[in-house]
Amino acid sequence: MFTATDFIPKKYTSTIENGNFEWSAPSNIALVKYWGKKEHQIPANPSVSFTLNNCKTITKLGFEKKDASTSLSVTNGFSFDLLFEGKPKEDFKPKIQKFLERVEVYLPFLKEYHFTIDTQNTFPHSSGIASSASGMAALAMNFMSLEKVLNPEMTDQYFYQKASFLARLGSGSACRSVKGNVVAWGNQANIEGSSDLYGVEFPYAIHENFKNYQDTILLVDKGEKQVSSTVGHDLMHNHPYAERRFAQAHENMDQLIAIFESGNLDEFIKVVESEALTLHAMMMTSMPYFILMKPNTLQIINAIWKFRNETQIPVCFTLDAGANVHVLYPENVSEKVLQFIQDELVVFCQNRQYICDKIGDGAIAL
Ligand code: DP6
Repeated sequence: MFTATDFIPKKYTSTIENGNFEWSAPSNIALVKYWGKKEHQIPANPSVSFTLNNCKTITKLGFEKKDASTSLSVTNGFSFDLLFEGKPKEDFKPKIQKFLERVEVYLPFLKEYHFTIDTQNTFPHSSGIASSASGMAALAMNFMSLEKVLNPEMTDQYFYQKASFLARLGSGSACRSVKGNVVAWGNQANIEGSSDLYGVEFPYAIHENFKNYQDTILLVDKGEKQVSSTVGHDLMHNHPYAERRFAQAHENMDQLIAIFESGNLDEFIKVVESEALTLHAMMMTSMPYFILMKPNTLQIINAIWKFRNETQIPVCFTLDAGANVHVLYPENVSEKVLQFIQDELVVFCQNRQYICDKIGDGAIAL
């Protein structure tokens, strides 16, 4: 287990003037939800997610050592350009600036370079799918590639855990996007190696029922999130049910350890749907209070319950902090569930849009 101070480099043994790296990092969908945090992006409760396969951010990091004789030296602080889908994107810059400030102590070389961050998503920007997890993970991987050039001795384990550690400082859930297929984050007594500081690959047996598990994302509301997750996490401070909720997340993590081993999908569904509804219940019972579902979210949930009852097909839903619905099901019922989605659920999606995804492997260098 690494501590935060292990990630502060002592000295670099190599140098590099310029170059570039490129990484793709996937989004992830939480089964036990991270909701509520302490200072320094420490989660109030443990969480576990499926890493996705198709919804990704691809980020190229160009870097050039600042030179006293060039105009690059005029910037004393961080110096970077940001391109989104090939075009400058000023409104993403404050988030990157904040990220750089938070990680500087762990990446002391940052101010020595000018960076060009060129990023794009494989999913539509206006889909209502948060890109902060995949985006921050892709950026963290790139910075780790640069650190590895400066410090070639580091182990693979250090490389990935520090990448996850850095990604967490950008966006909590991003620390679960570095690795696949099932990633746990947050101290949990029964999960060996688990940490509040970074995500770890789930270290126990996973039944083959979960192999290629499918996630079809129904785009109910493609607009801006009504409440940012930062505001949502904050509402867990002084929330009347917070302590019980945090305890419940620990209980659900333990239940999932057994469920992943046995492959019991009925039990899986109970935990996953309850987690999604609890997340929304927390938002309904905070002050101020919010309803993040839309009428079509409820239509979809009811249709899934009816279909499951009638067919005994183990399909279930989970939700992020928004109105879109993730429909989760095993690979061997894909055909029937996709037919059901087309026949009965797409009518509840904006422009009949949905995204087919499945469990995946984590970040890759391109
Ligand atoms: C509902 O990771 O987006 O998706 O740390 O403030 O960036 P910040 O929050 P974020 O929160 C994600 C919340 C969630 C549940 C989850 O992914 O576990």
